[in-house]
Amino acid sequence: MITLRINGEDRSVDAPGDMPLLWVLRDLIGLTGTKFGCGIAQCGACTVHLDGKPVRSCVLPVSAVGNRSITTIEGIGATPAGAQVQKAWLELEVVQCGYCQSGQIMSATALLNAKPQPSDDDINAAMAGNICRCGTYVRIRDAIKRASGAKA
Ligand code: FES
Ligand code: FES
Repeated sequence: MITLRINGEDRSVDAPGDMPLLWVLRDLIGLTGTKFGCGIAQCGACTVHLDGKPVRSCVLPVSAVGNRSITTIEGIGATPAGAQVQKAWLELEVVQCGYCQSGQIMSATALLNAKPQPSDDDINAAMAGNICRCGTYVRIRDAIKRASGAKA
């Protein structure tokens, strides 16, 4: 049994230590908001936070989580920056098909927590690992700026 702190709650799971955190979240716990894209840390669809830092859950063995707190897309709206990001996402209608968007929101929220007023270069660097096949990049940038309080 492994006990994980997820979105503020302790959850115990019977998972092999080498199982990627993504499978644990989706298949064992039922938190399916976090998506599987590439499975090789190249697309960002599976991004969650460990102690507020973005990680690719598709390549993170669950045994490596340790005592760190996990936040997923299901819980990010309960954080101040996450709520701001989600509000801006809705106002600017960022989403197209939606598949990449959990990961985008998780990376954007981590960025704003680290840098409340990010520059374009900061946004480029923080979001570079999150691929969107629908090409919503311009709206994502505008929404991050709106969430940061800057005019989009
Ligand atoms: S599914 Fe994890 S980075 Fe693509
Ligand atoms: S909204 Fe479709 S992949 Fe990003």
